[in-house]
Amino acid sequence: MSISTPFSSNGLTYQSSKSRSFKRHFSYHLISQVQVTTVPYAIPLPSVYLSKPKRFSKERFKLVTASATPTVETPKISFRGKNPKDVNVLVVGSTGYIGKFVVKELVKRGFNVTAIARERSGIRGKNSKEETLELLSGANVCFSDVTNLESLEKSIENLGMSVDVVVSCLASRSGGVKDSWLIDYEATKNSLLAGRKFGAAHFVLLSAICVQKPLLEFQRAKLKFEAELIEEAKKDKGFTYSIVRPTAFFKSLAGQVELVKDGKPYVMFGDGKLCACKPISEPDLASFITDCVSSQELINKILPIGGPGDALTPLEQGEMLFRLAGKEPKFLKVPIQIMDFAIGVLDFLVKIFPSLEDAAEFGKIGRYYAAESMLIWDPKTGEYDAEKTPSYGNDTLEEFFQRVLEEGMSGQELGEQTIF
Ligand SMILES: NC(=O)c1ccc[n+]([C@@H]2O[C@H](COP(=O)([O-])OP(=O)(O)OC[C@H]3O[C@@H](n4cnc5c(N)ncnc54)[C@H](OP(=O)(O)O)[C@@H]3O)[C@@H](O)[C@H]2O)c1
Repeated sequence: MSISTPFSSNGLTYQSSKSRSFKRHFSYHLISQVQVTTVPYAIPLPSVYLSKPKRFSKERFKLVTASATPTVETPKISFRGKNPKDVNVLVVGSTGYIGKFVVKELVKRGFNVTAIARERSGIRGKNSKEETLELLSGANVCFSDVTNLESLEKSIENLGMSVDVVVSCLASRSGGVKDSWLIDYEATKNSLLAGRKFGAAHFVLLSAICVQKPLLEFQRAKLKFEAELIEEAKKDKGFTYSIVRPTAFFKSLAGQVELVKDGKPYVMFGDGKLCACKPISEPDLASFITDCVSSQELINKILPIGGPGDALTPLEQGEMLFRLAGKEPKFLKVPIQIMDFAIGVLDFLVKIFPSLEDAAEFGKIGRYYAAESMLIWDPKTGEYDAEKTPSYGNDTLEEFFQRVLEEGMSGQELGEQTIF
């Protein structure tokens, strides 16, 4: 969800950052180690992996039965052994904040990318077909409807190709109750089913670290899909997945940059230390997701991932902003109980006016991100653990804030919900 709502710990409007070139640093080894030692739910790697597209196996079966001479089945080579240009990657959610960077990175690494998009894409459908084609340049763009399995399958069939890997960056743009189930569960599942029908042997899912403590509908919808994806890989050893659970995106923390620049106070809940995160940039996350497409080391795992450096509380983010802006720090501390009160009122009103369901959900989303850290949750200690939250990439929030202070937020996307 680009929803600007969820990932702000400070409860204001969120915006995305501009694209640029980045140097990256990453060690699979490091991530694997962290994974094994810190993530109790990491799943062991299968030792052998062979893809077997259904479409092709049927054709081969026909050939074998038609021939009088016995033929020896040669095992299919995994797509991981192929040249990227021969690997067909289907991206759904390709026009989102992260999805478009994932498409760009996959194209850069030479994969044969097909991006599924809506005819009007982007926030409030602001992009025309032509703009979407421009946005996703380098990829084949297929206009289709991920919410309708039949039409999605038809669209893929019309492409006349098999699929090796599906990457899903789908997310409800609103975070509303029904939309979350429609997109974070159903449409994502449609992508799995359609991808499998045309041979997909691997599925990379962009999820969220917050699903480890699910209190919101979109988290429950994501978790349901995660469970079914894992089940699919258990049933078919030739199918694998990578579930990527990132911490906060930069855009989710940028809502107050302009305010601070204009001399306004930085607003935070409680003492500004109720939560923390290790923010990750969209190019760094896109790079990690692309690693998941072909790296054997990242299969059949749930992969929490943050950006470089220490975890930052809202107070630290505010202090950083004032320092970069060259202003005297000024904080407005809002008691978290105000949100609890508002949520209580909305929950009561929903019983009388069911149409307020989404408003109540947005209140809960705001409350969640005001108090819950976007870090690994340790159920044993009952605390979030920054040390155990793996880091990836080079881009820092400080550089991002500096850039936004200098260049402004113009041209950067606001999410659909800007409720706080
Ligand atoms: N924000 C954060 O800090 C944060 C942190 C960790 C994890 N996450 C997770 O990251 C994921 C992606 O976030 P994002 O910000 O990249 O999402 P986003 O910008 O909202 O993009 C959503 C994508 O899903 C597509 N989509 C939504 N509704 C659709 C519909 N009805 N039919 C077809 N396509 C639809 C959108 O297509 P259109 O362009 O056509 O609308 C877009 O491509 C989410 O699951 C989120 O929970 C976010």
